[in-house]
Amino acid sequence: MIARRRLIVGNWKMSGNHAQLTELDAIDATARAHPDVDIALCLPFTMIERAAARRSALSIGAQDCHAGLGGAHTGDISADMLRESGASWVIVGHSERRTAYGESDAMVRAKAEAAIEAGLNVLVCVGENASERRAGEAEQVVTAQLEQSFPWNKGARTPAVAYEPVWAIGTELAAATEQVAAMHRAIRKLLDDREVRLVYGGSVSPANAGDLLVLPEVDGLLVGRASLTASDFIPIVEAAARTRVP
Ligand code: PGA
Repeated sequence: MIARRRLIVGNWKMSGNHAQLTELDAIDATARAHPDVDIALCLPFTMIERAAARRSALSIGAQDCHAGLGGAHTGDISADMLRESGASWVIVGHSERRTAYGESDAMVRAKAEAAIEAGLNVLVCVGENASERRAGEAEQVVTAQLEQSFPWNKGARTPAVAYEPVWAIGTELAAATEQVAAMHRAIRKLLDDREVRLVYGGSVSPANAGDLLVLPEVDGLLVGRASLTASDFIPIVEAAARTRVP
């Protein structure tokens, strides 16, 4: 198995205000202490510019972008705008956007392509819901999602992929390590020999991060709630550094 650089991404969702930028200082110091781990915090749009200006080792990202370059898209933001504000990462296809805004696989792929064109690092999210897992269709659903939403023709700068089972997000019940390993193997098969980092997300915490990161199939983690405070997020980064494949 090829060893890839660890990747830990935080997703603040619609949380956070400027007062919370102080959390970033401690996280940034941890990022400086662990240069072998790539660390990105995906913040609300309003925080990106200030956050990007105040950190040195930590990367700042956004949680969505539009597929277009500009124009009549009220309320949207382009990948170029994100880049200009200091973001170097963007999440596309998070299940909360797929569900709440009906984002299709084709839209997610178009967003990923636009973000790559703009020079951003992209994290494409896929994951099955509870009924799909109960029906035994998890693998089929996830691989079909990835087939349709991964920007296959953007070879030079391959995005990272996050496997996030919808039933594990925000529930305090992460997927079992065997479930994560099995799904990551299925996704990896589809990705073939592409140099894509594959991270797990869904109720990651300081308590379970180490168990997930020792899986050879897992290159990193996408962290929601536990990325909101330095006291939760730092132990997760440290677990990634500790379990780094040489
Ligand atoms: P969670 O969120 O860690 O709070 O479950 C993960 C995500 O939605 O990216």
